[in-house]
Amino acid sequence: MTHPLEQLRDEALREIDSASDGQALETARIKYLGKSGSISAWGEQMRTLGKDEKPIVGKLLNEVRNAVSAALESRAANFRSQMESEALGKMDVSLPGTPHEIGALHPLTQMWQRSIEIFRRMGFALADGPDIEDEWQCFDALNTPPEHPARNEQDTFYLPDGRLLRTHTSTVQIRTMQAAPPPIRVIAPGAAYRRDELDATHSPQFHQIEGLYVDENVSVADLKGALEFFMRELFGAGTEVQFRPHYFPFTEPSLEIYVKSKALKSGERWIEVAGSGIVHPAVFEAVNKARGDKAYDPEKWTGYAFGLGMDRLAMILFDIPDIRLFAQNDLRFLRQFA
Ligand code: DAH
Repeated sequence: MTHPLEQLRDEALREIDSASDGQALETARIKYLGKSGSISAWGEQMRTLGKDEKPIVGKLLNEVRNAVSAALESRAANFRSQMESEALGKMDVSLPGTPHEIGALHPLTQMWQRSIEIFRRMGFALADGPDIEDEWQCFDALNTPPEHPARNEQDTFYLPDGRLLRTHTSTVQIRTMQAAPPPIRVIAPGAAYRRDELDATHSPQFHQIEGLYVDENVSVADLKGALEFFMRELFGAGTEVQFRPHYFPFTEPSLEIYVKSKALKSGERWIEVAGSGIVHPAVFEAVNKARGDKAYDPEKWTGYAFGLGMDRLAMILFDIPDIRLFAQNDLRFLRQFA
């Protein structure tokens, strides 16, 4: 004879088996195993059973509970995997995927990386300074007092508090010397700003690499050697480099550097790419004054400095006709350097 608990179990299993969805399954669970479910009710009845019957019915009750729970769980798992495969079935694997566009480095960044790599091989360390500077860093310390005409040519943007956007990366020369005694051999890549009208070759924001080398007995020959090496590494072995006398307040003598590039579609011609020279003793003196020592004694130390126009160099190297292209974010332009 089957025990009523066994009948209850069979009934529950049938119901679970024929449940058509999660909702029906839940109804069955409450009906049999819920607080006032019919299987749970047997737990209450145990108290009324006799000593002989109790362990037998207790054991049976446990088995029935476990069997029903397991059936509920396995049916629920069925429903879950059924739902998943239905969802997958609706997915069209032949549809094109979501494209992940691969970015690329901006041509100016590439130019910087190449340049830094060449200077590193010559033993230059990287230096840095802020874009917002004060007049002293940008002009006075670089032997350019307020009445100096060079301030006009390099007019920049002023903040209400009198600070300014640096007109050249030469500010980093001053910062580097303030921070450490000689010898110094650094380059400082960064942005510079000027109140220039925007056209094909001028931009209010442009980019430079500043260089500073201070040691004993540094001469124009050292400057020439380093920059000729740089230009030939960058543009190729046959590249011609010219040094033309010029004037900068912070160097004496001062030289402008020109390269003749074969890369240009518009034809081979001399293009100015940098200013340079031998650091003016007045710059060392200004640094000494700010430091409060004589670390940069102009009788003992000499140095060369240069400021390379990154935009210019990139325009030559990649044959780019217009400086505005660097900032316009036109993907048709940028993709060519990917
Ligand atoms: N600062 C100059 C400019 O932006 C370039 C320059 C010239 C930098 C001579 C130098 C230098 O370090 O020695 O026009």
